Amino acid sequence: MIRTENLTKVYRMGEVEVQALRDVNLEIQDGEFIAIAGPSGSGKSTLLNMMGCLDKPTSGAIFIDDIDTGMLSENKLAEIRREKIGFIFQQFNLIHTLNALENVALPMFFAGVGRETRLKRAEELLAKVGLEDRVDHKPSELSGGEQQRMAIARALSNDPEIIIGDEPTGNVDTEAGNVIMDILEGLNREGRTIIVVTHDAEIAARAGRTKRMRDGKVLD
Ligand SMILES: Nc1ncnc2c1ncn2[C@@H]1O[C@H](COP(=O)(O)OP(=O)(O)OP(=O)(O)O)[C@@H](O)[C@H]1O
Ligand SMILES: [Mg+2]
Repeated sequence: MIRTENLTKVYRMGEVEVQALRDVNLEIQDGEFIAIAGPSGSGKSTLLNMMGCLDKPTSGAIFIDDIDTGMLSENKLAEIRREKIGFIFQQFNLIHTLNALENVALPMFFAGVGRETRLKRAEELLAKVGLEDRVDHKPSELSGGEQQRMAIARALSNDPEIIIGDEPTGNVDTEAGNVIMDILEGLNREGRTIIVVTHDAEIAARAGRTKRMRDGKVLD
């Protein structure tokens, strides 16, 4: 379970302050599929980054499985990110010099998984997202939808309980977006918690629950 308590984020840029999150209280149950919608600048990415322990709030707290993440050391936070959370981004964030197999295997390298195991697992994960015929392809040799599926396979490499996607269908066409949602739904059926930000009402409609944000607040 992920729970935020009076979560506030203020970005300070010299003299200027941007209040990106204002007292956000949100509870996400294990195994939920939740969509977060709302206009540009409403704080969606900021909220995801906090829930994924990629950034720290100005005030308030984030609990993951009842652990107050604000009390954890950097090392412990990195461990949570690595072991519990898989990230998918709008821009895919793949490494262009590596092929699909290597991209997917990379987080396992950092997690200390041996070479044989990680290559075998990377192959299985690519098959899971329908890319078994593309293991040798570099990101530039794949379509946008395929690149995002590669990113999903990579996000799965450490078998995360939680998958966080910031506009995972934002840079692909409707058909590829639906394939990505099919994959995310399958992962949700496996019991994983899925949190996606989307501008697309049709995509949001496929989640179990949608929360809307405006001006740094989560609306009821
Ligand atoms: N690193 C940063 N430094 C300063 N201000 C930031 C930073 N990141 C975001 N902001 C500001 O915080 C507010 C919320 O940004 P955020 O990226 O969370 O919005 P969003 O809802 O994800 O928007 P979009 O739909 O365009 O991605 C915006 O006003 C933005 O300009
Ligand atoms: Mg955003």
